[in-house]
Amino acid sequence: MSDTLAATVRQALASVRDPATGQDVVANGMLQGLSARDGLVQFALAVPRERARALEPLRAAAEKAAGSVPGVLSATCVLTAHRDIQTGPAAGAPPAPHSHGPAPGTARATRPTPGQGQMLLPDIGAILAVASGKGGVGKSTTAVNLAVAMAASGLAVGLLDADIYGPSLPQMLGTSARPRSAEGRIQPIEAWGLKAMSIGFLVEQETPMIWRGPMVMGALEQMLGQVDWGKLDVLVVDMPPGTGDAQLTMSQRVPLAGAVIVSTPQDVALIDARRGIRMFEKVQVPVLGLIENMSFYCCPQCGHRSEPFGHGGARAEAERMGVEFLGELPLKLEIRELSDAGTPVVGARPDSHEAATYRQIAARLREKLGQRRPAAAPRFVVE
Ligand SMILES: Nc1ncnc2c1ncn2[C@@H]1O[C@H](COP(=O)(O)OP(=O)(O)OP(=O)(O)O)[C@@H](O)[C@H]1O
Ligand SMILES: [Mg+2]
Repeated sequence: MSDTLAATVRQALASVRDPATGQDVVANGMLQGLSARDGLVQFALAVPRERARALEPLRAAAEKAAGSVPGVLSATCVLTAHRDIQTGPAAGAPPAPHSHGPAPGTARATRPTPGQGQMLLPDIGAILAVASGKGGVGKSTTAVNLAVAMAASGLAVGLLDADIYGPSLPQMLGTSARPRSAEGRIQPIEAWGLKAMSIGFLVEQETPMIWRGPMVMGALEQMLGQVDWGKLDVLVVDMPPGTGDAQLTMSQRVPLAGAVIVSTPQDVALIDARRGIRMFEKVQVPVLGLIENMSFYCCPQCGHRSEPFGHGGARAEAERMGVEFLGELPLKLEIRELSDAGTPVVGARPDSHEAATYRQIAARLREKLGQRRPAAAPRFVVE
């Protein structure tokens, strides 16, 4: 870290005041986790959860103040939950009512770094992670199609590609548009009725993705916090593969309402799916269900159905783990072709059997998310 730059930024932030108390954000202890490296500045303001919406102007002002320090190329400020950062409740304390993420202090899988509390995103109704332990099982395909199906049902939906190393949204949504920036906020790309963001929209395809662990979270924070999502009913997050530290940190830092696990029927994928379920349980993110992808094979010529990897493994695994089985999608050439062409099957072939299955799963998830957030923000309203 550049200590001098960090010190100058700290000084600049001392001129940013909480309007409620008139105290500056350094003196009142809100400033947390300031890091400055190669001109990239990141920090959090720890605020009481209930003030998050009202304090958006403070966040913007702090970001602006940091960004105008000479030598700063980019500054990102996120609001995080106040309690997470201070002492937090004792380990094992019950989660706060209607909190839609791990209760601070209860998720002990990785030790939260000071200043690395859970992000506060008050304008986003629910954040839904689409994950799997194993790569290549169809997470992104599932995330895109579920998001398109939710948007088609009238919800305001965002789709975030959290795969920093292998972003796939630009291809799957069929757009390589560059996001515009307006008043310091990045405008998401609009496609298929969604607002979408991916590192793939921000950097050239050929740019090597050499990100160190902490930078992955930084990039994600930027995409969550600096993107002008507006008011969303649901933000679907296409998670990167694996259950390593990056995924764990993300599941702790991002206030997830729930996770959906995608698996193929093979044993090896199911073992990883189990790992994925355990990871979310560890950080107290509810697993809303399991989807079996490439469940059976449909011959494009004659429609004959065969089951090259066995079939039904995910349903059985879901039962074993006490998780709802949400549905199954066939291994079908058309799904891949449409996906590769940037036309998700739900949008491009709404009358297909697959589109109907995705819509059914999306409706069930909407129901489950609704049930999970009865009082916090009943925002599943079709406007
Ligand atoms: N049901 C399906 N039928 C046919 N092809 C599919 C199906 N689901 C996904 N695919 C194809 O399989 C490949 C991998 O899918 P996808 O990129 O969605 O997986 P992923 O789990 O997101 O992978 P990664 O772990 O690399 O992020 C893609 O080419 C996709 O088009
Ligand atoms: Mg993917």
